[in-house]
Amino acid sequence: MFKNILVPVDGSEQSIKSAKVAVELAVKHEGKVHLLHTIRPSEYTFTGIDIIHIIEKSAAEIIQNVSAQIKEAAEAGNVEITSEIVLGNPASIIIERSKQGYDSIVIANRGLSGITEIMLGSVSNVVSHHAHCPVLLLR
Ligand SMILES: Nc1ncnc2c1ncn2[C@@H]1O[C@H](COP(=O)(O)OP(=O)(O)OP(=O)(O)O)[C@@H](O)[C@H]1O
Ligand SMILES: [Mg+2]
Repeated sequence: MFKNILVPVDGSEQSIKSAKVAVELAVKHEGKVHLLHTIRPSEYTFTGIDIIHIIEKSAAEIIQNVSAQIKEAAEAGNVEITSEIVLGNPASIIIERSKQGYDSIVIANRGLSGITEIMLGSVSNVVSHHAHCPVLLLR
């Protein structure tokens, strides 16, 4: 179940925690970890080319930051880390990716918005209901 793990990341502390847990699991199961960051198309709407560069730069920074925080553990445990940035609705993209041979998704219940009263965020809610592979939901 933990040979090929998909970890959606939005830059939140919770998503960094998810990546760390995924690496731990991958170390134990001789697996690998794929980080996925999604940029919402709405962030692109009515924006000029400069803004698009800023959005892409911040997306790249999110991936770099998460990667940096798991690098040591991944290298020590011989876990391959790959990543991608995709334009689209985060939940839809994650559901699509879940059909592509991942054997699990590790995701936290909350992300960037940080509202703790609600049990699940919009992305974790849809993913936990509709993913095509097992989902490890971290609270
Ligand atoms: N744009 C995104 N790309 C990749 N993963 C994401 C993205 N947004 C959220 N996630 C993942 O989903 C997890 C839960 O975040 P979610 O967005 O569901 O909750 P939230 O931000 O607290 O609430 P909201 O529904 O208001 O956004 C995050 O920790 C992250 O792993
Ligand atoms: Mg969110």
